[in-house]
Formats: sequence, structure tokens, C-alpha cells
Amino acid sequence: MNLAGRRIVLGVTGGIAAYKAIEVCRRLVDAGAHVSPIMTEGAKRFVGETTFSALASEPVQTSLWDEESPIPHTRLGQGADVIVVAPATARLLSAYASGYSDDLLTATLIATRAPVVVCPAMHTEMWEHPSVQANLETLRSRGVIIVPPAEGRLAGGDVGTGRLADPGDIVAAIERALLSIDGELPDRDLVGLDVLVTAGGTREAIDPVRVITNRSSGKQGYAIAAEAAARGANVTLVTTVDREAPSGVTVIEVVSAADMEAAVMPLSAAQDVIVMAAAVADFRPVVVADRKLKKDEFGSDGPARILLEPTHDFLVDLGTRKPAGQVLVGFAAETDNVLGNARGKLARKNLDLIVANDVGAPGVGFEHDTNEVVLVSATGMDHNVPLTDKRSIARHVIDAIVSIRAAH
Ligand code: CTP
Repeated sequence: MNLAGRRIVLGVTGGIAAYKAIEVCRRLVDAGAHVSPIMTEGAKRFVGETTFSALASEPVQTSLWDEESPIPHTRLGQGADVIVVAPATARLLSAYASGYSDDLLTATLIATRAPVVVCPAMHTEMWEHPSVQANLETLRSRGVIIVPPAEGRLAGGDVGTGRLADPGDIVAAIERALLSIDGELPDRDLVGLDVLVTAGGTREAIDPVRVITNRSSGKQGYAIAAEAAARGANVTLVTTVDREAPSGVTVIEVVSAADMEAAVMPLSAAQDVIVMAAAVADFRPVVVADRKLKKDEFGSDGPARILLEPTHDFLVDLGTRKPAGQVLVGFAAETDNVLGNARGKLARKNLDLIVANDVGAPGVGFEHDTNEVVLVSATGMDHNVPLTDKRSIARHVIDAIVSIRAAH
């Protein structure tokens, strides 16, 4: 989902979780959204106005009365694409449910037709109180999106339900709210399916300091994991990259080709779909030194030497052991003879689909946010996807997987 240019009002109320709204604000701004923060009087007791003013796209608003415009609530409410309240206290839920608009945030909530995402956070006793639950029910019945609190440690050392939802889940709910107004809510066509995706380039150690790796950023694999999760799949992402995980995805971090194989193989039989987007190293050093090697240990004069051995191509094993009905997808990053090489790999590794890209072309593949691919399927159908963002490529890949499953 592209948040660039979307106008988001971020309401912050007076709970200890107000500090986590800073992270929500930062993520939205990083994604290109225009964030207008509103703080209640209570929120100001927990976090500084300056923090939000510095991070957001415009200075924080705190009052119905101190802006140049006499009606800030209608400016904010009418101009928003979406309003999110994080954290939302029991007081805010009550005021919003009853229309008691005595401060800028509640007045803005009443003055908008935009979707509203409310993220409550409070102590378990308050969360479970019938008045709070009744207010939530009222808001829900009016179409307000509620992101429920999580279980965990609360202020004062208590443990229970009431923690503000994870910032990643809050941003995902905002994205879904925006997709629903754009009419682009993704199909939930992968509900109940187990999907495993690998991402990133493996790192093969030479010694404790040096590695051999490649230029894969993992972005395409992450986009495929995010798309599969948004369409309802249970997604496991086996990754070499320390990147923020898509919401709801189980992440297994690995380093080398051998680690990735050890993580993937035991899970493989239970998967409905496996997408091997990772750039697995084809070679690794024969010996991994347990101490940092000195320069001259690579060869005292002339070229340095590192003896390499092939890694195991476990995509071949996945192809050999593929259970009936499973869809197995490989990637082929090529610089020449893209289609010929891709078709060769598809046949050799017993794949259902291969995503081939010409990494020599501008804006394509490694380290870019865009990609251009040919989807080569075992049925002989090739589908060109012209240069676009990696999430759109992911959508095409998942669409192709859905068609292959339907034809199985
Ligand atoms: N792959 C794998 N294990 C390896 C190497 C590759 O599982 N040791 C997978 C990759 O994840 C990718 C596919 O195989 O999905 C193709 O990888 P690639 O390196 O392009 O293919 P190779 O068969 O190694 O061919 P090349 O000679 O082009 O390197």
C-alpha cells in the first residue's frame, strides 16, 4: 500500500502508551504520509508536544481555540483521508461514542467523514469494564475500525490485556482503511493456506569478520510475504535481512545457505506454497576460519586465494519432494538469455513458476524499489510484468500462484 501523500490525522490521548504513538507517527511520515498530530491535554502529560511537532508533517494541535483558523476541527476532519487515535483512553471512547466533543480531538472525530481507526490502551480492569465494551460496540456499529489491545506488561508492572497494539499492526490497519476507501481491498483468496517465502542474500563466512554475499536486498521477498499475508495466508518468512517484518508474518532469521536450508526443509512438506525469492549463494568457503585471518594468509604475493565449494541447491530437493498440490516458485536473476535460463531452471528444479528478471536493466532487481519480471510457468505461459513497484510485482506473482492452484 502506498501511503505517499495520504493525509492522516493522528490523535494521541493521555495514556502511558502515548510514547508508542511517536513510533506510529515516524513510520507514517517515513512512508510519505502527511501526518497532522492532535494531542489531548492528558497526552501532554505523557509526551512532549515538541516531539510530535518535530516528527510529524505539521505542528501539533492541542486546542479548539488557539489556532489562527477559528474552526481547526473542521479543517482537520474534512481534510483527512483517515484519522487514527493511538492510544485511545476509556475517556476518549466514551466521549467519541456519545458525541461529547469538548476538545479538538473529539470535535475532529465528529467533524469527519473519513474512516477512523481507534487503538485502545488501558489497564485490563478498565478494558473489561462493561461501559468501555459498550462504547466500543457503539463505535464498531458505526463503522469505526478498532485495533484491539494486546496482552503483555502494563504500566505499574501488571500483566494482562490492555497494551497498545504493535505500531506495525496499527499502520497495517490504517493501510487497510485507506484501501477500503479506494475500493482496492485485496481479495482474501489465500485464507487457510500456509505460504513460506525466503528473502535476501545469504552470507557465507570466510572468518569471523569477512563474508561472501550478493546484492539481494530482500525487498521483493518481503513484498511477496506482505501480499500473501494481506490476502489471508499464514506466512513464514525465512530471511537473511534485518528489515521490519510485514504484519502478521512469522519471521525466521538465518545467515548462510546452510542455515536457510535447515530452516526451510523441515517446514516444506506442510506448505501449500513455497516462494524461493532468496538469492542463495552458489559457493561458500571450504574452510571457515575461527579467528580473523591475516592478509598474508590469503596468499603472500599476487592474487589472494579463497577456496570455494558449492552450496547445496535445496530448491532442487524441494522440487524432488514436492507434495501433490504444492506450488513451488523459484527466482532467476539473470543478465543475459533471461528466458532461456529461466526455462532451464524451471525444468531442472521441477518448479511450477519462475520469476525471472534481467538484473542488468535499469531500475530492475537488486537494491531497487522497482522491478520488471517475466513470470514463466510450467504450463508454458509467459507473462511480462513491466517496470513497477515490488508490491505490484508481488500481486502478479500471487495472482499467478492462485491460477496455478486452480488448474492443479
Ligand atoms: N537456490 C537454492 N539453493 C542454492 C542456489 C539457488 O535454493 N544453493 C534457488 C534460489 O533461491 C532461486 C533459484 O534457486 O529461487 C535459482 O537460483 P540461481 O542461483 O539463479 O540458479 P542456479 O541454478 O544456481 O543457476 P546459475 O548458474 O544461474 O547460478
